[in-house]
Amino acid sequence: LQPKRLAGRRVLLTAGPTFEALDPVRGLTNSSSGRMGFALAQACVEAGAEVTLVAGPVALPTPVGVTRIDVTSALEMRDAVKSALAGRHIFIAVAAVADYRPAQSAAHKIKKGAATLTLELVANPDILAEVAALPDAPFCVGFAAESRNLDEFAEGKRRAKKLPLVVGNLVQDGLGGETNAVTLFDEAGSHVLPPGDKLTVARGIVEHIAGMLSHAQD
Ligand code: C5P
Repeated sequence: LQPKRLAGRRVLLTAGPTFEALDPVRGLTNSSSGRMGFALAQACVEAGAEVTLVAGPVALPTPVGVTRIDVTSALEMRDAVKSALAGRHIFIAVAAVADYRPAQSAAHKIKKGAATLTLELVANPDILAEVAALPDAPFCVGFAAESRNLDEFAEGKRRAKKLPLVVGNLVQDGLGGETNAVTLFDEAGSHVLPPGDKLTVARGIVEHIAGMLSHAQD
């Protein structure tokens, strides 16, 4: 039997896309499947943690032992994270949060007619950066899904958001699929995990997090 590396730890995760409404039937979203975040939630439970998962709109079963909070938009995700944050040791932001949302969401369905239609977008809050900046921030883990220059962008993100750990992957290798290939970026450098199905990769990430936390206590 594996030792429970996260026993006694309380973990909060985000997963999936967000959906930013344009009107009652339309919106902006992305192709995140939520699978990596759900796999990580499961791996955290297996490691003995108490786990809450804030999930964007995905049709995935809740892993056994996970408390799930469903949200739609980035603003709802931020509210849910803030409400669930107290007493957490670890925050893992896996969600592909929409960077922008429509400046207005129409109360009624937008009608076609005009030859062109311009959407005005406003920036969403960066949930992870906000949590990481709190004076009593938990151990924060970010994800960087990039289509090129993974090392540069992932490490840049880690420094910009002041995170101890960023999990980087090339979108070609992971987004929407069943498998993933990730590289971990921390203060000590970069570590390539063996590629595999998302649960196996998630277990490797959890192992790394547990190792970092146990070193921090030494
Ligand atoms: O800067 P970028 O969006 O690429 O950073 C990705 C990381 O930040 C992911 O961990 C993602 O969950 C998190 N994030 C967030 N809120 C946002 C944007 C990204 O929590 N609005």
